[in-house]
Amino acid sequence: MAKNSSFTCSACAATFTKWSGRCDNCGEWNTIVEDTGLSSGPAGKSLGARRGRAVALTDLSTEEPPPPRTTSKLAELDRVLGGGLVPASATLVGGDPGIGKSTLLLQAAAQFAQSGLKTIYVSGEEASAQVRMRAQRLGLASAPVQLAADTNLRDILTALEAEAPQLAIIDSIQTMWSDHVDSAPGSVSQVRAAAHELTTFAKRKGISVILVGHVTKEGQIAGPRVVEHMVDTVLYFEGERGHQFRILRAVKNRFGPADEIGVFEMTGAGLAEVQNPSALFLSERGTPSPGSAVFAGIEGTRPVLVEFQALVAPTPHSQPRRTVVGWDGGRLAMILAVLEARCGIPFAGLDVYLNVAGGLKISEPAADLAVAAALLSAREDAALPADTVVFGELSLSGALRPAPQTEIRLKEAQKLGFSKAIAPLGGKARTSAGMSLQQMGDLTTFVGDIFGAG
Ligand code: TYD
Ligand code: MG
Repeated sequence: MAKNSSFTCSACAATFTKWSGRCDNCGEWNTIVEDTGLSSGPAGKSLGARRGRAVALTDLSTEEPPPPRTTSKLAELDRVLGGGLVPASATLVGGDPGIGKSTLLLQAAAQFAQSGLKTIYVSGEEASAQVRMRAQRLGLASAPVQLAADTNLRDILTALEAEAPQLAIIDSIQTMWSDHVDSAPGSVSQVRAAAHELTTFAKRKGISVILVGHVTKEGQIAGPRVVEHMVDTVLYFEGERGHQFRILRAVKNRFGPADEIGVFEMTGAGLAEVQNPSALFLSERGTPSPGSAVFAGIEGTRPVLVEFQALVAPTPHSQPRRTVVGWDGGRLAMILAVLEARCGIPFAGLDVYLNVAGGLKISEPAADLAVAAALLSAREDAALPADTVVFGELSLSGALRPAPQTEIRLKEAQKLGFSKAIAPLGGKARTSAGMSLQQMGDLTTFVGDIFGAG
């Protein structure tokens, strides 16, 4: 049963639905007490009996000017943020330990500071000397960023209040602890409390905050996940340890499109922007071999070409293996089932490995046809034509559904030296000179046309 409890600040009498260590209204610490008047009142006594202040109402037609944004010189970061950093916004940057979050944010801090934002970088994980050494290695030692190495939230908020920066970076939220919460730093309640206090403080003072959050092994960010709903923007920094590519992906953005990605490369001198990700993802591609298919995809607003690689081999096990990296395992099972049921091409008794080259994770349904093409090519041991890209969503009936933004995909493919695309029927498809488009209605046609079987 939901309890009708509320909380009141004993200093300013503001009411809240949740307890917090500090009153959002007057800023006093430890003044919020639970108000049990509602729940313990006589049965049937409604909320209306205790009057609050009426909230202000507006209509939808009032024009809001777009938020002013500060851009850094990192265009990949600016785009993922939706066009730059919004004042008084709260952003969470999540990712595996060691993936490069601190490096990215130190570079971002330096860029924003040089663009004129007063910037404070708080490290709870490294001593200031370590951060300075990293900054020197990155060639950023002269950037006007102020550093702090501390984990006590109360002290940090006091410093932020006194310094009044425009941007505060907290690295990481798991190391922060609030003395109002009894549990250990890094525990869910500490992370939640620290994030809540930081974000509400920042909103009230007009400071933009960027919180770093580590993802645990299982992907259940003991922290970031519970923080996601408190912030305006959630970015994930992804990549394979062995690869130098890093993808910054917006999974939530109140100020811009989600699904946008920024691509970086980890170098000896920090993260370098990758302006043409397609070229990078295809750079390791040698002569076309069986099992390889190039997918013309869209990530956010940008076209990205990636290579799907498949390996199909007879299995010694009773239960064949299906191993996927960079793509959804359930979707792979679906495509295998469609190939078997609609095209009569069985994969029983065969191990199947599928990999997206370069460490990118693809979630676009339009990659279905590229996956099917890679699987078929591997199974038939026949390479696809080297000059061809494929895209299109597959339905359970084996029909191909048109993918959005066909033209953008074709343009990108042409830019990277491809001359032919295989795509579903329909969709707005005008090709430019030098690029041919072959459209098909279903997977059976594709199998017959490309592999001469059906
Ligand atoms: P870091 O930013 O500390 O990761 P996180 O904050 O996400 O835990 O990055 C750590 C890795 O990055 C480390 O293994 C070394 C590598 N690195 C470089 O390759 N080049 C560099 O210039 C820097 C600063 C780090
Ligand atoms: Mg770090």
